[in-house]
Amino acid sequence: MSIAINDNIVDEIKSRCNIVDVIGQVVPLKKTGSNHKGVCPFHNEKTPSFVVSETKQIYTCFGCGATGDAIEFVEKYYNLEFKEAIGKMAAQYGIEIKSASPSDGKREELYEINREAATFFYKAFIKSNNIGYNYMKKRGIDIATLKKFGVGYADSEWDSLYNYFKAKGTDVKLLIELGLVSESKGKYFDKYRNRIMFPIINTRGKIIGFGGRAIGDDQPKYLNSPESKVFMKKNNLYGINLTRQDIDKEDYAILVEGYMDAISLYESGIRNVCASLGTALTENQAKLLKRYTNNIVLSYDADVAGQAASLRGMDILYKENCKVKVLQVSDGKDPDEFVRKKGKEAFIRLVKEALPYVDYKIYLLKNKYDMNTTEGSIDLLKESAKILKGLTPIEAEAYIKKLAKDTKISESAIRFEVNGLNDEPVHQRQQYEYENENSVKELLPIDMIEKNIIKILLLKSSYINKVKILENPFLSESGKKIFNMIVSITRDIEEVDIRKLQDSLEERERNILNDIMENIHLGGKEEMIFNDCVHNINNRIVIRKERDLIFRLSMADEEENIEKINEITKELMELQKLKNVDRR
Ligand code: CTP
Ligand code: MN
Repeated sequence: MSIAINDNIVDEIKSRCNIVDVIGQVVPLKKTGSNHKGVCPFHNEKTPSFVVSETKQIYTCFGCGATGDAIEFVEKYYNLEFKEAIGKMAAQYGIEIKSASPSDGKREELYEINREAATFFYKAFIKSNNIGYNYMKKRGIDIATLKKFGVGYADSEWDSLYNYFKAKGTDVKLLIELGLVSESKGKYFDKYRNRIMFPIINTRGKIIGFGGRAIGDDQPKYLNSPESKVFMKKNNLYGINLTRQDIDKEDYAILVEGYMDAISLYESGIRNVCASLGTALTENQAKLLKRYTNNIVLSYDADVAGQAASLRGMDILYKENCKVKVLQVSDGKDPDEFVRKKGKEAFIRLVKEALPYVDYKIYLLKNKYDMNTTEGSIDLLKESAKILKGLTPIEAEAYIKKLAKDTKISESAIRFEVNGLNDEPVHQRQQYEYENENSVKELLPIDMIEKNIIKILLLKSSYINKVKILENPFLSESGKKIFNMIVSITRDIEEVDIRKLQDSLEERERNILNDIMENIHLGGKEEMIFNDCVHNINNRIVIRKERDLIFRLSMADEEENIEKINEITKELMELQKLKNVDRR
């Protein structure tokens, strides 16, 4: 196979192919603590000394010393060249490999222009007595830190950057594409004037864009690069190019909102930090972080907007199976202000006090309802039950116990409330469902697979026929209803008329549809995601059964039900065998 491997594909493979899954297909692995263990496939051994770390995404054999990442494992195990291994994994995980196109060359050209612009801004910044430098100095940031982040200054002239590139013969179209230069009435002028320039750098060290902060009261406060071939905000985190080793080493990341928060924490000596740049955290950003750690401490601004952003960010991270905590800045409006006033140690104390995902949500509910009244307690429990519904049974149990203590309402009543809920849980970990497929068939909540498929249909009606031939693509009543309606109102090759679809659906389905339109983002990867969904549809009956059995196991009382437990365990083992066969 002749494929051009670029960094994007390698990154995509690394973020989408979980090493535990990759190796688990050929080496039986057992979870031990935070790792997975098995018998090493590379040397002869009886006692397992082959360890796979999910958080670090590497394997190591303490017997023979073999070690590497998922791609290296595939190379070694199947005896493949790097390219072949990439090809095999891409095919298996439905990752599309585009062959090298002329635009790859252009991409490099764009990176290069950004790099030159950053150097230009940096040189201006370090000129003696520069306005930008003085401003940053006043904000307490040392030159060494500023240098590491590559901070620069765009002067207040209208055309210094433009003239610089013009002299070099750079194509002005590219400057416009990157948002560095604008055109008006046939004249070109610099986009960034009198601003502090923060280069945004990806994990491969390429400058993909800039954020420019006004020094005075100019609006907007931040001017960011437009989305382009090289700048996709949703795929990157500010600072991570610099801090990923620290994040890996500390095994947790502090996620902040702003450029200044990241730089200021870094300056104070807290280096395992990165910033989501003011927008809602995206799934891809979560995946990027997960390469370095599973533990995320969200430290957003103290205001209402920051709190709302925390809640949204948490859910995204939770769905990606991260351990999320929320840190609340107690003095100052953001981490930058706090750490400057109170220092590193005080901030670390806040990190230690940060509330885990569920605790934070329950904490907000406790503030909302008056627990001194019966009514308040009931409302609190009802709302909490919705949160607990999305947890694993073991997590849910722990919180049921806590809530029972706090509200003085019996554990069993709360448990009943949680298990009896049929509505869609507020948030759910990826693929986590434990409903019994037989008993509550028509009440199954719509899941991510179905939502993704519907989104694909809304974007490209040509998929309708592909969905029609799938076996049981929709298990939820709502999913079925929406799909049937799409089919019945869409003729031949026309696109789905969304207005009409909304009007034709009942309220419940209409709400689901709106949620899908707003919250499901496919990032132009319809084909890849569709393939994933098809794969998951085929697996999900088995997965559902498995979750159900595990759930029943966790609920069964050991002493009373020893026979029952044996029975379920046997059933579970049979099922898992089936799953393994299916995978090969
Ligand atoms: N942001 C943006 N455009 C704006 C305002 C904010 O892109 N007009 C983004 C920036 O990435 C910014 C982040 O949102 O860093 C957080 O905004 P804010 O808290 O206002 O900025 P700070 O980073 O705290 O900057 P400063 O401390 O200089 O006010
Ligand atoms: Mn700030």
